Amino acid sequence: MKIKLISLTLLACSILTLAFDFSFSTDPVLPTTPYDYSVNLPAHFLTDAGGPLPTSINGLDNTPVDNPITNDGATLGRVLFYDTNLSSNRTISCASCHKQNAGFSDPSVLSSGFAGGSTRRHSMTLLNSRYYQRGFFFWDERAASLEAQVLMPFQDPVEMGLTLSELTQRVSEQSYYSTLFTKAFGDNTVTTDRISKALAQFVRSIVSYTSKYDAGRVQVNAPGPNFPNFTTEENLGKQLFIRPLTNGGAGCFGCHTTESFNSANGGPQNNGLDAVSTTDLGAFETFPNTPGFRGRFKTSTLRNIELTAPYMHDGRFQTLEQVIEHYNSGIQAHQTLSAALKDANGNPVRLNFTTEQKNALVAFLKTLTDNTIANEVKWSNPFPSSPVPIELLSFIAKPMEKKILLEWQTATERNNDNFTIEKSLTGEKWETIGTVKGAGQSNQKQFYSFIDTKPVKGIQYFRLKQTDFDRTVTYSKVVSVQYQSSALAFVKVYPNPANTQISVGLNPETPLAEAQIQLINVNGQVIMTKKDLNTLTTELDISNLSNGIYFVKVITKEGSKTMSFMKN
Ligand code: HEC
Ligand code: HEC
Repeated sequence: MKIKLISLTLLACSILTLAFDFSFSTDPVLPTTPYDYSVNLPAHFLTDAGGPLPTSINGLDNTPVDNPITNDGATLGRVLFYDTNLSSNRTISCASCHKQNAGFSDPSVLSSGFAGGSTRRHSMTLLNSRYYQRGFFFWDERAASLEAQVLMPFQDPVEMGLTLSELTQRVSEQSYYSTLFTKAFGDNTVTTDRISKALAQFVRSIVSYTSKYDAGRVQVNAPGPNFPNFTTEENLGKQLFIRPLTNGGAGCFGCHTTESFNSANGGPQNNGLDAVSTTDLGAFETFPNTPGFRGRFKTSTLRNIELTAPYMHDGRFQTLEQVIEHYNSGIQAHQTLSAALKDANGNPVRLNFTTEQKNALVAFLKTLTDNTIANEVKWSNPFPSSPVPIELLSFIAKPMEKKILLEWQTATERNNDNFTIEKSLTGEKWETIGTVKGAGQSNQKQFYSFIDTKPVKGIQYFRLKQTDFDRTVTYSKVVSVQYQSSALAFVKVYPNPANTQISVGLNPETPLAEAQIQLINVNGQVIMTKKDLNTLTTELDISNLSNGIYFVKVITKEGSKTMSFMKN
C-alpha cells in the first residue's frame, strides 16, 4: 500500500539520523498479556425488576456453547476486524463501516465498499448485539447467527469482495496471524470457521454498561423511579420512555426492552416509517412464508444511540429530534404496523407530546451514551498509524444542478504539494479532471473543493491523488455519485422544519406549464395542489396545518418526486 511505503521512507530517514536499532513494521501492536474481554455486567443487568416487562438480560445471550469469548480469541478477532488486507483491493476493513468513535456504526447514510459502491442499507451498531435473543443478524435478520454473519461482509460484492478461499489465503499470507491462531485455537491452521469464531467473540465483547443511565440505575432498585443523578428533564424523559401509552407514556420500553435496550419481542417490528413497503420488504425478504414480516425490521439496541446517527435501516433521520417527532406525529398506517404503536381504534398512535416532553425524551436517550466504548484500547485499531503525508478527514461528492461538487478536508498536512482529481465511469480506468494546490505544511483543518462541470447521467467515481513535494503519491478512498440530469433531481423544499410557509424550488429545466405541486399529509391525503405555476419558486402557506410530518410531491411529465418536511 502506498501509505505504508511512504511511512517506510520517512521512518528509515529518522532511523538513520538517530541511529536506533529499529526495524519498521506494519504488524499489529498487541500487549504481551491479552486484554480482558470478559463482560462483567453490573447487578441490574442480571436481576428482573419485577414489572410486566423483562429488565434483565437473563436468557437473552446468543453466545453459542461452542464459542465462548476467550481473551486470545477476541484478540485475534480484533486484528481481523481492523485488517484492510482482507478486502479485495486491501482498502477497507470491518472498521471502515463500523467505527469505534461512532458506536461501531457509520456516520454515512449508506457505507462505501472497497470499490466505492454503496451498501443497500445503513450500517448497524455492534453494541450489545449478543443480547438479541433471536440471535438473527442484519436489519432483515437474514444471518442465522453472529458466526454466520461475520463471514458475509467478506463475500459481499459491494463490501469486501472476496471468496472464502481468497479470505483464508489472505489471512495465511500475513505473518502475524500464525501466533494469533495458535494462541486462540491451539495451532496455526487458518480456517473460515476459526475466522468466524474469533470475529464473533470480538463483536460479542462489545457491551456497554457504564453510561450515565447505569450510574443512576445502580442507585435505585428498578428502572422506573427517578434517578438521583438525572436532571428533572432526563427523569421526565425516562418516565415517558418506560410508561405505556395507556398511562400517558410513549411505550418505547415495550420494544426497546431490558437494561440492554435491545428488543425482547418475538421478532422484527414495524415502527411505522412507511405506509407501504416498496423497495425494502425487510424481514419478509428473509422469511417469505411470514407475510406479517413485510416491512418489519430488527430492533437493535438504543445504547450509545447519540453516537450512531443517522437512524433507521435506511438512515432517513439525521437527529434524535427527528426520530422523536416521527414517533410523536409521523407513524404510518402500514398493514404490519406493530400493535404497540396503534391507538385503541387501531389507528397509528399520535402522542401529541409538548416540546418539553419531546426534548425530555431526547435528553433521556442521551443518558445512554457511554464514552468508554469509543476509548477502550481493547476495541481499537491495533495496526500502527503511519506518519501519512496528509490526514484526510472527509471526501464527499454531491450532485448539484448541472455539476458535481467535490469537497474534502484535511486535519494535518506534511509536504503536500497538490491534489489531482481523478474521475472514472467504471471504477477502474481513471482520468484526470483537475488539480488543486495543497497547503504544504499545516496543523489546521484545511477545506478544499472542486467542481466537475461535466457530469454524466448515472454513476461516476472520484478519487484524490495526493502528491508530495518529493513526488510520492497517495490515493484517497473512492467516492461514487449518482447524477440525474432530469429536472426532478434538483427540487428543493425549504426551510425544514417550517412554521408558516414552505418554499418549493424547481430547476430551470422544468417545463412549468405542465408541473404540479401537491401537499400531502401523513395519511396520504392531498391537502393542497398548485398548478399553472409561473415562477420557479412556489410558496405554500402552511400556517393553518397542525404540527407533524408532511410531504411535497412535484409531478412533471417525467415522473414525480416526493420530499418530506416537518411543520412545527
Ligand atoms: C462496506 C461497509 C461494511 C463493511 C466493510 C462491514 N459491514 Fe457490517 N454492516 C454493514 C451494513 C450496511 C449493515 C446492515 C446491512 C443490512 O442489514 O442489510 C451491517 C451489519 C452488520 C452486523 C449486524 C448487526 C445486527 O445487530 O444485526 C454485524 C454483526 C456486522 N455488520 C459486522 C461486520 C463485520 C464483522 C465486518 C467485517 C468482517 C463487517 N460488518 C463489515 C456495513 C458493513
Ligand atoms: C413497536 C416497537 C417499537 C416501539 C414501541 C418503539 N420502537 Fe424504536 N424502533 C423499532 C424498530 C423496529 C426500529 C428499527 C426500524 C427500522 O430501521 O426500520 C426502531 C428504531 C429506533 C431508533 C433508531 C435505531 C437505530 O439504530 O437507527 C430509535 C432512536 C428509536 N427506535 C427510539 C424509540 C423511541 C424513543 C421510542 C418511543 C417513543 C420507540 N423507539 C418506540 C421498534 C419500536
